[in-house]
Amino acid sequence: MAFAVISCSLNPKSRSRALARMAVERITAHGEETVFIDLREHPLPLCDGAGAGDHPSVLDLADAIANADAVLLGLPVYNYGVNAAAKNLLELTGAAWEDRIVGFLCAAGGRSSYMAPMSLANSLMLDYHCLILPRIVHAAADQLDETGRVVDPEIENRIEALVNSALRFGRAAKTIPSKP
Ligand SMILES: Cc1cc2nc3c(=O)[nH]c(=O)nc-3n(C[C@H](O)[C@H](O)[C@H](O)COP(=O)(O)O)c2cc1C
Repeated sequence: MAFAVISCSLNPKSRSRALARMAVERITAHGEETVFIDLREHPLPLCDGAGAGDHPSVLDLADAIANADAVLLGLPVYNYGVNAAAKNLLELTGAAWEDRIVGFLCAAGGRSSYMAPMSLANSLMLDYHCLILPRIVHAAADQLDETGRVVDPEIENRIEALVNSALRFGRAAKTIPSKP
């Protein structure tokens, strides 16, 4: 299976990037391949609904997404949703997401924003027919510290459960013909 793990935080001290890195480790431990993409290293234009989608970085990211069987997103929780950079990525790369399997690894200040990725999930499901993995990782500040060190081992269990579900659904999807 081909994975793409995309870290959507632009914060140099990102905690969701640490979650995404842990997911990469777990994927590799399962003997699968993944690319790791850090949005800080791929500055993107803001989506304008016009020419921004032709930017070379957008085309590179769209290729990486379209070529992955499963895409795992490291997501900062901002204002009870995901950060603007993550939404901008989806707006710019749109059709590349068609039929992808998608999972979320969220870093938040507290626990009350646990539904933060649902708006992104809805768009991925309704617009692009993605299969959203029902194992969302949500790490609050008392579970993963500002250096990315895991304080609560449950976080590691949840990352493993997310990667396992990606493998399960991904392998099953390969047995289903793409057109009936
Ligand atoms: C602009 C802003 C808005 C935030 N909004 C929320 C929020 O609604 N709920 C929450 O639990 N944490 C919130 N936080 C805390 C972040 O989720 C937390 O700092 C997290 O580590 C961000 O992810 P990152 O470290 O990967 O960038 C917010 C932080 C910022 C900077």
